Amino acid sequence: METLSSATTAGLAPASTEQIVELDRNCVVQTYRRLPVLFVRGEGCELVDAEGRRYVDFVAGIAVCALGHAHPAVTAAIAAQAATLVHASNLYYTVPSTQLAAQLVRRSGLARAFFCNSGTEANEAAIKLARKHAYRKGEPGRTTIITMQGAFHGRTFGALAATPNPKYQEGFAPLPGGFASIEFGNVAQARATIGADTAAVLVEPVQGESGIHPADPAYLGALRELCDQRGVLLIFDEVQCGLGRIGTPFAFQHFGVVPDAVTLAKGLANGLPIGALVVGEKAAQSLQPGDHGTTFGGNPVACAAALAHLAVSERDDVPGNARRVGAVLHEELERLAAAYPALLGEVRGIGMMQGVQVKEPAKARAIVEAALEERVVANDAGGNTLRFVPPLIMTAEQVREGIRRLERALARM
Ligand SMILES: Cc1ncc(COP(=O)(O)O)c(C=O)c1O
Repeated sequence: METLSSATTAGLAPASTEQIVELDRNCVVQTYRRLPVLFVRGEGCELVDAEGRRYVDFVAGIAVCALGHAHPAVTAAIAAQAATLVHASNLYYTVPSTQLAAQLVRRSGLARAFFCNSGTEANEAAIKLARKHAYRKGEPGRTTIITMQGAFHGRTFGALAATPNPKYQEGFAPLPGGFASIEFGNVAQARATIGADTAAVLVEPVQGESGIHPADPAYLGALRELCDQRGVLLIFDEVQCGLGRIGTPFAFQHFGVVPDAVTLAKGLANGLPIGALVVGEKAAQSLQPGDHGTTFGGNPVACAAALAHLAVSERDDVPGNARRVGAVLHEELERLAAAYPALLGEVRGIGMMQGVQVKEPAKARAIVEAALEERVVANDAGGNTLRFVPPLIMTAEQVREGIRRLERALARM
């Protein structure tokens, strides 16, 4: 008892930023280049550090906290579910995951959902779905997954093989085979590559990690046509761009192209770990009992949080806010880019998924650090882009305040 209570007290003891930074450097596998700030609380579109300073949050946990931090509806749903049933296993039925599947089916017009715990896992499920779909159709030779240059689909071996970028793949060979990459946006190359050995084309409608690159709707339409003609599944990775971020409940609805399956994660449970594969009728029966699974997939607490998020999103038209305020963010970034032409270049994005080019890539991280000192949280992506993926509930005034702070940071540089 003594040991337990002292261990618990040690875990909860107040700690300064310096103490935590040192502990992290000594005890944590150093896979992240963390910025020197200790966030202890979040409220709406603001984060609060250990010294009580408040920051405008343009990162939202990397496109995760769609309804901002500590949203009362999500908090209440988590607390109620945690007090009722935290975990039972996929050996049994539970209420939240079944209801969440029904909500995703209704909103997407697709047929069925499979739950896992992250975006990477959702893409693993999609890759397995595509191969098993071909296999069950009697085309076991259709195994290749075609992905896009610049894509990011995750860090496990399948998702990593689907991420044709040496930055992520280097040193991890051998990667699984059966992946080929083509230029994002190049229809002729897609036409020449999608063939009798192709199981699926996997594409982000808006590339996130490459530095915010939206697809041309005509390109996605051409992929849809080619996949239909050649008996190939078209899968959209909406892990970052989905769930209202670009102004529609699903990103594919913005582009007017319906995929055979969609992967989701990040924003779904507003901060709790969850991933989902949502599959259309064509491939909905391709995974059968025993084909795939995960212990925590469909976790009741995560699914209850997701249900609360989706209910608020629909009730308050959160995607509409993302569209309107995202346009303000885009304009503000264009104004900033015009004011600092030596530092900033092209502004790209849709809704609350915006990026601005940093002309000297080495300065991207320095801008992020200077911004933090002005109490605005932004992030660099793709090596040469400042990325803005704030909570979807952010107001135009909060955007302007964040940009004012960013401008102060730029002025100091
Ligand atoms: C488009 C996309 N797919 C997949 C992933 C991987 O998701 P996770 O980090 O939850 O595994 C990410 C993460 O950034 C992403 O942006």
